[in-house]
Amino acid sequence: MEYGQLVRDRRSIRGYKPDPVPKEVILEIVELASGAPSSMNTQPWHFHVVTGEPLDRIRAGNTERMMNGAKPQREIPVEGSYKGVHRERQVEIAYQLFDAMGIGEDKARRTDWMMRGFRQFEAPVSIVVTYDRSLELATVGHFDLGAVTYGLVLAAWERGLGTVINGQGIMQSDVVRAHANIPEDEIIMTCVAMGYPLDDFAANDVKAPRVPAERLVSFVGFDD
Ligand SMILES: Cc1cc2nc3c(=O)[nH]c(=O)nc-3n(C[C@H](O)[C@H](O)[C@H](O)COP(=O)(O)O)c2cc1C
Repeated sequence: MEYGQLVRDRRSIRGYKPDPVPKEVILEIVELASGAPSSMNTQPWHFHVVTGEPLDRIRAGNTERMMNGAKPQREIPVEGSYKGVHRERQVEIAYQLFDAMGIGEDKARRTDWMMRGFRQFEAPVSIVVTYDRSLELATVGHFDLGAVTYGLVLAAWERGLGTVINGQGIMQSDVVRAHANIPEDEIIMTCVAMGYPLDDFAANDVKAPRVPAERLVSFVGFDD
């Protein structure tokens, strides 16, 4: 697929077929993703690919804790909530998804949707993305993880696989760590739910809006 088309077509997928994803395909996707640049070529990333029973245990543990009102346990510093324009964008995409799914203002259905997120949208595979703890204070490591993860979701899309990068799935990171056997010398950054997209699932057609490039860029030193 041509790169421009790939980037324009890709969107987050939140409804999956239960079909398994072959290991060879996942390996190829990770291989392509790992072509990402990294600071000083440190390549600080690791990918823990989880499916079947261990993934079900992660979903169950995550959901139970969140239902019981446990505080999120993230391994990277994330404090407070979005404000201003960032909050507006967060609300906008949430409403787009609620509208597509016919959820509207229904509180019980909103809670169901949120819980679905904590179960990683029932995807057959979750890839937990981690980085080396020895780089904990080197925040460029976060940059490297973003680059490799974007490469991963694009390579997946090119192979007919949907993904959603999601913080919800690792909201209780110690549960994830235990069931995915993540070693102590790695920090859990995020996870990527992956699988073949359901055809008739309205949220899968939602295109999140983007700020036009003209508003993102300031040119300096150009003639006009
Ligand atoms: C770091 C990160 C965390 C995210 N966490 C979640 C999440 O917990 N739940 C969810 O539904 N989407 C999550 N997303 C997906 C974003 O909502 C989505 O990428 C954004 O709305 C743009 O939509 P698009 O991916 O369809 O282009 C996350 C994306 C990123 C990059």
